[in-house]
Order: sequence, then structure tokens, then C-alpha cells
Amino acid sequence: MPETILITGANRGIGLELTRQFAAAGWRVFATCRRLQQAPELAAVAASNPQVSLHPLEVTDPESIRSLQQELGEVPLDLLFHNAGIIGSQRQGFGEAEAEPWLQAFRVNSIAPLLLTQAFVDQVAASRRKLIAIMGTQMASLADNRSGGYYLYRSSKAAAHMVAKCLAIDLQPRGITVVVLHPGWVRTEMGGEAATLSPAESARGLRQVIDGLSSQDSGRFFTYAGEELPW
Ligand SMILES: NC(=O)c1ccc[n+]([C@@H]2O[C@H](COP(=O)([O-])OP(=O)(O)OC[C@H]3O[C@@H](n4cnc5c(N)ncnc54)[C@H](OP(=O)(O)O)[C@@H]3O)[C@@H](O)[C@H]2O)c1
Repeated sequence: MPETILITGANRGIGLELTRQFAAAGWRVFATCRRLQQAPELAAVAASNPQVSLHPLEVTDPESIRSLQQELGEVPLDLLFHNAGIIGSQRQGFGEAEAEPWLQAFRVNSIAPLLLTQAFVDQVAASRRKLIAIMGTQMASLADNRSGGYYLYRSSKAAAHMVAKCLAIDLQPRGITVVVLHPGWVRTEMGGEAATLSPAESARGLRQVIDGLSSQDSGRFFTYAGEELPW
């Protein structure tokens, strides 16, 4: 039986590359994105790999989450990877922040990972690896914040980090390991062209970290290079 991953935001950026690499490594990939018709690169990955199936998922929409639950049934999920994320707004320095884009950042970055985990926890518990990864960011480390700004992104991701920490405690009796991963600074639409890593380099590192995880790591925060970060 191949191992299984359910990933959000699989149509571009790091999510697309993770989908490609997990598929190449023989995993059964349930790749989700909001608009399947507008995801040609993801469609190409699926076309050349029968182990990849594509599923619509708008992570902020409870109805969309319910449809995905029905589509997947009771299939065990070795890895639930919450990758989808947004920066929130280009205007998020002090004096610029507005409530609506901030709320949307919370919906995508922090609320969705919890709602999706609530929806799929039984499938994770029924798997062999029992892993949940939330894509966090070093920018949301309270201890490491020396530059301020980015209120929407930093605060919504910091909330996601706290969600992960609570999940690690609450799901420990079910043998589930929950981690937060920082992918590095990656050349995607979010990271921009000046970023230091390609999506392929980041995804390779993330996969290696995931491969080495044990229950001792639950509730911890790692970079793509395997270094532990302070909360
Ligand atoms: N790039 C970096 O340097 C960096 C650094 C630290 C952390 N991260 C984190 O890594 C993750 C991936 O980032 P990336 O650089 O690959 O970003 P990206 O290229 O902007 O891709 C973001 C992905 O999230 C999806 N998404 C956004 N809102 C969604 C929603 N409501 N429902 C479903 N999917 C949604 C997007 O889908 P659409 O195409 O439909 O919008 C897209 O697939 C994010 O969580 C990000 O915060 C990135």
C-alpha cells in the first residue's frame, strides 16, 4: 500500500512542487486546489502520474470541506499537509492595516488548518504515519521578530502555530504527530523572484524533514533544513 498525502494549495508554488515530489517518490497524492480548471501544471502532474488525483477545495468554505470528505471516504491519510496560505495584503505596515484582508488571512492561514484537521483527523489516525504538517513561517516566530510590520501575515501565521501546538497536545493520545514547517524563502508568487530557494530545493528539504519525524517531534517547529526554530 503506498503512503498517502492530502495537500492543500497544490496548484502552484511549494504545494505544486511537493505534489510532484511526493508523487515521484511513489506516494498516493490527493492534491487539492480551488480552481481545477485553472491549474494546468497540476493537471500535467496528474496526467503523468496515476497516483495523483485532483480535488477541488476552497479551504475557507465548510461546504467545500464536506464535499472533499465525501469524495475521499475513509481512506487513511499518512500526512495531512496544510500548505495553502496567503500574505493577506500588500498594505500591512503600521498605519496601513485593514480588518477585512486581515480576517481573510486568518480564515486561510489559521482557521482552515484547524477545520480541515477536525474533518480528516479520523483518516490520519487510521494511517501508519499519522502526521499533520502546518506550513508556518519564521516571520511568525515571536522570539525571532526583530523587524516588525507584516501585521496580517505574521499574526495569522502565529495563530496557526498555536493551533499546531494545541493539536499536538490534543491528538497525542491518538498517536498523531503535528509539526509546523518553515519552507525557507522560496521563489513563488508569495516569496518573489529575489528569494533564495527554488520550490524544488524547499520541497526536497521539507520531505526529508517529514521523513525523519517521530512522535518526539510533535509540537515542534522546523525549517526545511531540519533546524528547530523558537516559537
Ligand atoms: N514562499 C515563501 O518564501 C514562503 C515562506 C514562508 C512560508 N511560506 C508558506 O508556504 C505556503 C505556500 O506558499 P507559496 O510560496 O507556495 O505561495 P503561493 O505560490 O502564493 O501559493 C499559495 C497557494 O495557496 C493557495 N490558496 C490560497 N488561498 C486559498 C484558499 N482560500 N483555498 C485554497 N487554496 C488557497 C493558492 O491557490 P490559488 O492559486 O487558488 O490562489 C496557492 O496554491 C504558504 O502557507 C506560505 O505562507 C512561503
